Amino acid sequence: MKWKQPLLSLKPYQPGRTIEEVKKQFDLEEIVKLASNENPFGCSPKAATAIREYSPLLSLYPDGYATKLREAVSKHLEVRSGQLIFGDGSDELIQIISRSLLHSGTNTVMASGTFSQYKHNAVIEGSEIREIPLINGAHDLTSMLNAIDEKTSVVWLCSPNNPTGVYIKREDIYDFLSKVPKDVLIVLDEAYYEYVYAEDYYDSLSLVEEYQNLIVLRTFSKIYGLASLRIGYGIANEEIIKVLDPARPPFNVNALAQAAAVEAIQDQAFVDECRVANQKGLQQFYQFCEEQQLNYFPSQGNFVLIDFKCDGNEVFQFLMERGYIVRSGVPLGFPTFVRVTVGSTEQNEGVISKMREFLAANATLS
Ligand SMILES: Cc1ncc(COP(=O)(O)O)c(C=O)c1O
Repeated sequence: MKWKQPLLSLKPYQPGRTIEEVKKQFDLEEIVKLASNENPFGCSPKAATAIREYSPLLSLYPDGYATKLREAVSKHLEVRSGQLIFGDGSDELIQIISRSLLHSGTNTVMASGTFSQYKHNAVIEGSEIREIPLINGAHDLTSMLNAIDEKTSVVWLCSPNNPTGVYIKREDIYDFLSKVPKDVLIVLDEAYYEYVYAEDYYDSLSLVEEYQNLIVLRTFSKIYGLASLRIGYGIANEEIIKVLDPARPPFNVNALAQAAAVEAIQDQAFVDECRVANQKGLQQFYQFCEEQQLNYFPSQGNFVLIDFKCDGNEVFQFLMERGYIVRSGVPLGFPTFVRVTVGSTEQNEGVISKMREFLAANATLS
């Protein structure tokens, strides 16, 4: 077969272990999954009702233009409806952007220690990948700028960054955007935007107005609690959207996702509650880290990356055997860390108590 050669070097995405698998393997009754930055409080009850009400219409294709959702999102964000593109998760938008701009002969610039799908898609498209290490969990924008040349097609920014939770400072992003050549697309992935509480966070939508080569990606998978329905969106100027849109499959966003997302985006009271609960949860982890003298990255997302100063896989295994699935930092490029999603107060207490047990057991061993 005449496969694209780079594809043969790739492995499929390795999702976290499923709850059922872990229950069976370790004979556990209850499992708490804190591995994929999902919302522990589910979704808005209004979104859940919309899903039930839509079910009788499942034999029909969805609206390929996501008309109602487009209206709801454009109203909520105060952007023009032609500035939006919807995807089967923001994962699909990353794929569409890569497919539209990357090929052998181009290069693409991203951080190393960021969301894996930028690189994964760039490999498939045969583009050269220029990875710039993070500095203290943050994008090194100066080195990223230096890595851009006339063959650069796309630059990827993730803010707050997964897996560190660190965000890009307002003055830094303005400075960066003003220096990137106008024919390079900048993708600003804000999957965790709604969790941000930093007061000096920039206004990404006004950046979209100002910079014609910027697309912001957001998702309904995180704070909106609809990860399983697969829906994300991009916001850019109309010219970018017009070019990307033909690369989008015709019915890419399913009807249940559209119906639920319309309700979800209108229920900002639910979003606010989740944001507040998340901040309290982060404090539980910070307190634990400080008491145990563990380093961590202060996070603007719904997860925290903690340095256990030992093999992250060991911590992961220990916690999994006791009913808590977290993410080892090893495949994320942080070999001594573990990334834990902020859960409910009880879930956080539970995983923290097992983390304490791990540290106590390790202290006796050494
Ligand atoms: C930074 C970042 N971008 C994009 C995604 C993909 O989200 P979606 O579920 O919308 O495909 C994730 C999911 O974990 C993420 O962390």
